[in-house]
Amino acid sequence: MKIVIMGSGAIGSLYGGLLCLSGEEVTLLVGRKPNVDAINKRGLRIKGVLGEHTIPFKATQNSEDIEIADLVLITTKAYDAVEAARRMRHLAKKGTYFLVLQNGIGTEKKVAEVLGSRRVLRATTCMGALMTAPGEVTATGVGITELGSHFPENQDMVEEVVAMMRNAGFDVVSSENIEGVVWTKTIVNCGINPIGALTGMTNGEIYNDKRLRDLVIKLVEETAHVADALGIELTTKDPVRYALGTAKATSENINSMLQDIQCCKQTEIDAITGEVIRLAKELGIETPLSESVYALVKALESKVTRFEKHEDKLPPLSVDEVERAITGI
Ligand code: PAF
Repeated sequence: MKIVIMGSGAIGSLYGGLLCLSGEEVTLLVGRKPNVDAINKRGLRIKGVLGEHTIPFKATQNSEDIEIADLVLITTKAYDAVEAARRMRHLAKKGTYFLVLQNGIGTEKKVAEVLGSRRVLRATTCMGALMTAPGEVTATGVGITELGSHFPENQDMVEEVVAMMRNAGFDVVSSENIEGVVWTKTIVNCGINPIGALTGMTNGEIYNDKRLRDLVIKLVEETAHVADALGIELTTKDPVRYALGTAKATSENINSMLQDIQCCKQTEIDAITGEVIRLAKELGIETPLSESVYALVKALESKVTRFEKHEDKLPPLSVDEVERAITGI
């Protein structure tokens, strides 16, 4: 299959790299300049629990360069998915399929609106990965990929992509209840991710702290209540147990929201907790704890992104100024 990866972050690089290694025709990565330059110069490096690989790889910043593709994996952050879809609109007319692979609720529907097509597939992943340098991704955990489509006419393509990913070494299953899969994953993200982002702790550290574990439980319960009111059929009967089990199983992980905070980047809180709060409001359901962690993460996000843009960085005080501040003269 001719594949394009839209988004050169940790997950996009990992999927692109392994698909390329398994012999898929062309895997072209569209991403940000530092990654694109590093990959074009030295190839894509994969390290960590999946072994060490250097994969000669073509990367670009210009989606217009791409004239043909069977499948585009949209692995950008949730807030960039619609823009990514716009940049790929020229391919939609040529029969390309699009697979949205990211955290959050509802992005695949927004992507389908932009592409004016029903050729949109959706997947969630529990693979753990970190960008450790430009063009270098470290796999930190192996987890399941679940794939399906909100549009039943795409089921044949779903099965084809599942077979292709399995061949590349992924633990992947198809699902006819992709909405349930996405919500189940989102419930885990609503529980773990903000707590990690706010405390700077790994999933395992959160799990081992009784007070934080109780917070995760309450967040999961609030989110599961919203899912239930929407009539979503979750893929687990016990979301709390599932979320805590995920935290334990991925105990070394620095969750993706914490990674964003550490890199002074915008987080996916709007597509995760923010979307749950919005839907809860429509239903007249109260989500006080989700609203609190949402406000805290948004505040932290705005602080770190301002810091990154140097808006908060004041010039250091001179010796005179320090003296004046101390003596009050
Ligand atoms: O967003 C993440 O980091 C992951 O979805 C998960 C499952 C919380 C593991 O860290």
